[in-house]
Amino acid sequence: MTKQGRVFSGARPTGRQHLGNYLGAIKNYVALQDNYECVYCIVDVHALTTMDTTLELKQNTYDMALDWLAAGIRPEESIVFIQSHVPQVMELHTYLSMVTPIGKLTDLPTFKDKVRENPNNVNYGLVGYPVLMAADILLYATDFVPVGVDQAPHLEFTREVVRSFNYRYGAPVLKEPQMKTTSIPKVLGIDGVQKMSKSLNNHIELASTAEETTQRVMQMVTDTARIRRSDPGNPDVCNVFSLHKIFSSQDEIDMINVECRRAGIGCVDCKKILAKNLNAHLEPFRSRRNELDQNPAYIWDTLADGAKRATVLAEETMTAVRDAIGLP
Ligand code: TRP
Repeated sequence: MTKQGRVFSGARPTGRQHLGNYLGAIKNYVALQDNYECVYCIVDVHALTTMDTTLELKQNTYDMALDWLAAGIRPEESIVFIQSHVPQVMELHTYLSMVTPIGKLTDLPTFKDKVRENPNNVNYGLVGYPVLMAADILLYATDFVPVGVDQAPHLEFTREVVRSFNYRYGAPVLKEPQMKTTSIPKVLGIDGVQKMSKSLNNHIELASTAEETTQRVMQMVTDTARIRRSDPGNPDVCNVFSLHKIFSSQDEIDMINVECRRAGIGCVDCKKILAKNLNAHLEPFRSRRNELDQNPAYIWDTLADGAKRATVLAEETMTAVRDAIGLP
């Protein structure tokens, strides 16, 4: 079937992916392939803006690519590659920086957050982070960018840069992308309070064994008002129940919804059902991942092939860009 345009998304190489990454991004990446020409990029250069060591960068890149492919990203059909393998993005970043007022970058809420988090490392690259992100998106003549609300200011910035650039150089060389918001569930960690994240160690890794996954599920915090087994619980405020809604059958969801409220089922049994369903859901992922992991060269070759195909698109844009600017 004919595709409805090009999608681009980037993610920092955070290593082995967790349930939050899966439900918040990867699942959507996989689904988008059916209707769009997809370009998925591991943004290693962006990662450098906040990193104090690069020791794990390669391994984290490999692990993320492995998880993406095991989860169903199809590299023959989609382009999957590493940002730094197509250095034209750095060139475009430089040209875009000439039409970017610096105040616009320092005013961004994302920039202010980063400064607050790490006041001792406010580097030049960090200020230019959204310019590099715009270069990612524009280099591949993207139609749609699937992003969460936290990235919305960056996408709006990208659209503004397109207008400034095209106006400044008098030619419509860059394409204005649309933001593609999908209803993405906010996945909480096993603490039931904070967003699932590796740095908080409240995550459930996709690549964990069934036993490890079950252990993690059994540690999940439930409705904190339910203290004794005989207390009625409230599924509406329970993180375990939120995951049941994604991974369990309608019958099980209905049963828990009723039985929890009248203390007919306890948290331990409720979690056991979730662990069983989660493991069943992840089983095909795990076996595919193990299979792919037997041959690391395949992962690196796939990423190299992606970079090659991305370079073709990149050069097309850069030829037009250099020409529009009037570089000698
Ligand atoms: N800034 C994004 C994040 O932190 C990552 C990213 C880099 C990105 N380049 C992109 C996302 C291009 C979408 C499109 O999550």
